[in-house]
Order: sequence, then structure tokens, then C-alpha cells
Amino acid sequence: MSEPNHQLRCLDCSLKQPPSVSDLHCAKCGGLFTVEYRDAPDGSQPRLPVDDPLTVNSLGEGDTPVVSLERTAESLGLEWLWAKMEFLSPTGSFKDRGSAVLTTMGRDLGVTEFVEDSSGNAGASLSAYAAAAGLKAHVFAPASAASGKLDQIQVYGASLHRIEGPRQAATDAAEEFVAERGLVYMSHNLSPYFSEGMKSVSFELVEVLGDELDHIVLPVGNGSLLIGMVRGYRELKEAGAIDRVPRFHCVQAHAVRPLVAALNGEEWSPEDALPTQASGIATSDPPRLPEMVDAVQATKGSGVTVPEDSLAIWQKRLASTEGIFAELTSAAAFAGLEILIESGTIDRGASVCVPITGSGLKEPLS
Ligand SMILES: Cc1ncc(COP(=O)(O)O)c(C=O)c1O
Ligand SMILES: [Zn+2]
Repeated sequence: MSEPNHQLRCLDCSLKQPPSVSDLHCAKCGGLFTVEYRDAPDGSQPRLPVDDPLTVNSLGEGDTPVVSLERTAESLGLEWLWAKMEFLSPTGSFKDRGSAVLTTMGRDLGVTEFVEDSSGNAGASLSAYAAAAGLKAHVFAPASAASGKLDQIQVYGASLHRIEGPRQAATDAAEEFVAERGLVYMSHNLSPYFSEGMKSVSFELVEVLGDELDHIVLPVGNGSLLIGMVRGYRELKEAGAIDRVPRFHCVQAHAVRPLVAALNGEEWSPEDALPTQASGIATSDPPRLPEMVDAVQATKGSGVTVPEDSLAIWQKRLASTEGIFAELTSAAAFAGLEILIESGTIDRGASVCVPITGSGLKEPLS
């Protein structure tokens, strides 16, 4: 067998270890891993941890359209507003990019059955990709998740474990189940492989828009899209394909705001979390928080919170003025964009992109 093209490096103590989907924590200090490649990036396509790009477990994810939102731009007084239509992915969210990479790694490293926990979209996505790769998936999700997401997890053949309580309860239950059954915990939030799949979003944006983008505004929970996109832009810059990286602005619900609080030096703890309808970003204790803070700060970005009532307002506004039915979590990014423009963080002459991360079709209307 040929040498793997990467190794895992502990984010805290830099310990290196061979590729693995089951080792989620550093054996020395308990830290999380990042992927470190042998070769430098060449900027033509994102580096991926898989042995052979032709054997990726793919359902046709990626290459989502970039659409100009002229009406919304005009109403916000913005020069350019682009939507990256991630909700057009095979299972209706951007998560498919990460699932393709993570399930390929699992399959190639000999996994046949795995456990995952999710607010809904990642579970649905990993269930579909598990089916395509012939893997058995156990997905732990909040019982309160939208029925469309729970149905989706089941129709792909995964075992759905509905867990009462907040999002964190599903993680705790998954970890217990793993300990009891001795199964592989292929957590998309703890594994460094999932976010590697998100780098392609940045490559696609550069392909369509060059380096004209000034800002990217996105909803952030566990940070896979943020971390992966920033890493994608870094590869492009390191390879000399672009001169500058857009500023990344993270949007969270005011009710659950660990990242925004950390960025703004606000005291906030997971116990302060309140219920929110933005279920995809209702993550009160994200395990990669320091990595998320670094990613935002490296791009001179910012964090902003949005009130609950702005979610449905922006969902309806996007649907009725642009013909785009985004899920509430995704609509939050537009509510955040509006605040960032009002506060002057984003100036009106700027070019902005918002990834529309998930489809409104999975949720009942609020
Ligand atoms: C629609 C949607 N947008 C954004 C996010 C946030 O992604 P991440 O947890 O990678 O920050 C999620 C996560 O579940 C989601 O479902
Ligand atoms: Zn370590």
C-alpha cells in the first residue's frame, strides 16, 4: 500500500499520528486533530485526505450555483450580493461535501458501522452517504428536530435514535452508545475529515468570482463550513492562486452564541443557552471553538447575533423576493448581514457572498 498523503496533527500539542476515523482525540493531551498534508497545495483543487479522488463516495455534491441576489442587494443598499446555493446539494444541505470525504475515509479505513450525532442535516447527509458506501449508520438527533430531517435519516436506512432535550443531549447519548457497543464514533464535529470537504466551496467561489469577494457571511454552529472554507482560501493563497482572503463574518442566534461571545470578549457559558429556532446553529459548546475563533480572526472577520423573530422574517423575504426557500438557520445569515451593514462592518460598496446552507423544505413553517 502506498504512503498516505497526510497525517493527523493535534491542535494542542502537535503530536502526529497516522490517518484514523476512530481516533478523535490526541492520545497524549486529549486535543482534537487537524489534517496535515505531505505535499504543498497547488491551488488547482483542494487537497483531500482520500487515496484516490476518483474513488470518493460521491452523490454529485459540490459545484452548486452562485446566484446574484439583485433585489436583496438593492434593498440592503449593497453593491453585490451573491448566494452560494448549497441547499441544492444531494440531501439539501452543504453537509454533503463533508459526508463524501468522511464516509470515504471510513470505508477505506475498514469501518462497516458507525455512530454519529447531529442536529438533523448532517445526520441526514451521513445516512445517505453511508447508504451509498454500504455502511451501517446510527444517528443520534434531538427528538425536536424537524420531521423532514428525521424522516430523511430513516429513509436512507440509518438507525435513528431520537433524544429528548437540547442538542448536547444527543451528543452525550451517542458517546454512551459508542462506549456500550464498542462501535466507531465517526463524529462529524470531532473528526478533522468532515470540514476538509468544505474547502471546495472556496475553490468554486474563486473559480466563478475570482478574488473580488470582500466578505462571506455564514451561519456557524460547530464551525465545519467556517473552518473548511477558511482552510480552502488559505490553500489558494499559499498556492498563489489569489492575493487576498475575504473576511468571514459568523452569524449565531442571540440565544446560543458561544463563538460570537468568544470573539467579542463576552462572558458566556453553555448554561446561558436559550431555545432557538435556528436548530443548525444551536450548538452551545462547540468542541472546535478555539479553531473557529482563529479562523475568523485570521480573516479579520467578526461575529454577530440575530434575534429569533428575524429568522422567519428573512426566510419569507428570501422566498417571496428571490424565490429561494432557505431553512431558518440559513436565513439567519441574512439577518446577520443586515446588521453588519447597518453597523458599518460591511460597507455598501462591498461584494458579499452568503452560502445558503440548507433547504426550507425540511422544516414546517413557523
Ligand atoms: C442549515 C445549516 N446551516 C449551518 C449549519 C452550521 O454548520 P456548522 O455546524 O458546520 O457550523 C448547520 C449545521 O447543522 C446547518 O444545518
Ligand atoms: Zn495533543
